[in-house]
Amino acid sequence: MPATITSIAHYFPPDVYPNSYFEQYLDTSDEWIIERTGIRERRFAKNGATSDLIVPAAKLCIERRGIELKDIDCIIVATVTPDYLFPATACVVQNKLGIPNAWGFDLSAACSGFLFALVTAVKLVESGGVRNVLLCGADKMSAIVDFDDRAQAVLFGDGAGVALIEMSEDPELGVLDHILHIDGEGGKFLYQAAGGSAKPASIETVKNREHYIHQEGQAVFKAAVKGMADVSVEIMKRNNLTNDDVDWLVPHQANLRIISATADRMGLSMDKVMVNIDKYANTTAATIPSCLSQWWEQGKLKKGDKLVLASFGAGFTWGAVYMKWSL
Ligand code: UT7
Repeated sequence: MPATITSIAHYFPPDVYPNSYFEQYLDTSDEWIIERTGIRERRFAKNGATSDLIVPAAKLCIERRGIELKDIDCIIVATVTPDYLFPATACVVQNKLGIPNAWGFDLSAACSGFLFALVTAVKLVESGGVRNVLLCGADKMSAIVDFDDRAQAVLFGDGAGVALIEMSEDPELGVLDHILHIDGEGGKFLYQAAGGSAKPASIETVKNREHYIHQEGQAVFKAAVKGMADVSVEIMKRNNLTNDDVDWLVPHQANLRIISATADRMGLSMDKVMVNIDKYANTTAATIPSCLSQWWEQGKLKKGDKLVLASFGAGFTWGAVYMKWSL
């Protein structure tokens, strides 16, 4: 029997920043941003931390399932913007929600965070080690974006998606296959240089802007197009899925051009692809669960639908998950 997603919810902060916000102080334009990325607007949290994005989504996710807080066994938070380097944001979330009997941890896989955490949660549940996992994919990217660098300021947003992972009641439905990869050779193209043990925070690191994201966009773009499409096609082949069989591609939302290239390689038309980058930009670990939640809320995602979830991000980390939706 596979494990599956038994509840889903998302949260985006209320303040909307359209592309015109950046036109006011950077040498950029609405046209450039839309054409090169597909992004029109994003949300930034004016206050609070990543855990404050998770809490409303988690409350809704738990309420939708009708499960009691005391019955939640494990909390996993996938994020690259934890509230603190330690303690884990999972502990902060546990405390803010008042979940009395859980253990948990944070997982760092950048834009692939939700997929890596989903597979981890599924294996934990399938092993019988826990009955359920509250799986949180959330990032407050505004905490690490350099707002003076046009090449990154326009790309990101803040958000959270939370799923509950439990055993499926139907052996046909749930998470059925996964392909996950890491390759540290790609680390040099996308990272946050300072603040860890390799380069502790100092006056110099602050002056050199080393606490912000460093991204070599084109190098990441090329690797992402190939990496995300390769694993998506591979997981289709391995499960004998034709393009007709796949109901939805649920891709990480970094760039609409990367998403279209992946859909093309899979032979899917864009009406079978979940896209919310236009309104929320790249929310890192929140992109995939927020798409699932929005499409489910809108009644577009139906029980039994065959989904390919796919991601690519810093590390490099990338992968694909094949699941049949059970809600
Ligand atoms: O989610 C984590 C993984 N991240 C990704 O998957 C991101 C992958 N990379 C990308 O999505 C794209 O590479 C970007 C959107 C980041 C950049 O698009 P690009 O088409 O690769 O542009 P580029 O970096 O090659 O830059 C082209 C030009 C440059 O100007 P020059 O040197 O040709 O004069 C940039 O300075 O565009 C310029 N540029 C901008 N112009 C206006 C860069 N950012 C901007 C901007 N507005 N915001």
